[in-house]
Amino acid sequence: MATIDASFAPARKRRRADWLGRAATLCYLAIAAGQLLFVAFILLFYYPPTLTGNFAAWNDKPLITGHVAGDTAGNLFFAVHVLMAAVITLGGLVQLVPAIRSRWPAVHRWNGRLYLLSALALAFGGLWLTWIRGTWLALGGAIGITLDALLILAFAGLAWRAAHVRRFADHRRWAIRLFAVASAVWFMRVGYMVWGLATGGAGIGKAMDGPFDLFLAFANSLLPLAVAELYLRAGASGTPAARKAVAGLLGLCALVILAGSAGAWMVMWGPYI
Ligand code: HEM
Repeated sequence: MATIDASFAPARKRRRADWLGRAATLCYLAIAAGQLLFVAFILLFYYPPTLTGNFAAWNDKPLITGHVAGDTAGNLFFAVHVLMAAVITLGGLVQLVPAIRSRWPAVHRWNGRLYLLSALALAFGGLWLTWIRGTWLALGGAIGITLDALLILAFAGLAWRAAHVRRFADHRRWAIRLFAVASAVWFMRVGYMVWGLATGGAGIGKAMDGPFDLFLAFANSLLPLAVAELYLRAGASGTPAARKAVAGLLGLCALVILAGSAGAWMVMWGPYI
């Protein structure tokens, strides 16, 4: 219906109405570029040693608790976690491409099932690593990532349910929210890099216990979720001014994400592969 309405609108108005969609595409492309770098790092650094059982090689990079000799359960949980990390990151990017949804609905359905499965594995596995294995430095950080895991589980359930009962508008909304929170650990890395570049690392503690660490522990999921919410609301019922403002915000996010992702590649990922 919206498309039919738009086709009757004067050309200038239509072009303006398009800004939100264009900005969303730009933001998606920036996210895709940054997340593909993350996937490349996971595939090149974690996959070869994990699939060949050389778990000790994880510790070639600084980690809180990577491989621990004799801790079979902890090592296996970590192995599944890093293997699934590539699946969810790549899977999320594929799910959001409209052309794939419309041209190959079966790909969308099967990739969607895999995405939800990896979301469950990462959220439950991540909770196990945090609270049972005890992998955390600052309590604020552990609570922040726990909130993220709970949001992932809730949104995964709601996205699946809406698709199951064929409420596709609701499904789209929950799926976008799920993508925002399932990308939180990647947003966190981007956030650290942008902040580090801009301020030289103000408020970052030695044990990730500074004010910025505490802020980012929660902002890594809540900030993308808030931006996603603004985008959804502007798209559904925003005034032209609101749509323009959200389009501007998405454009700014794209720039920040590109800078943070380039930094993450240079500092966090590239040097280890
Ligand atoms: C859903 C998307 C997630 C992705 C893509 C992801 C990805 C990763 C990756 C790549 C690592 C290896 C560390 C590194 O090289 O940076 C890792 C470690 C870890 N993740 Fe996740 N993760 C996700 C969700 C979670 C959640 C929800 C939790 C907690 C509830 C969690 C807890 C952990 C812990 C405790 C470690 C070990 C960190 C260390 O020893 O330094 N992850 N994750």
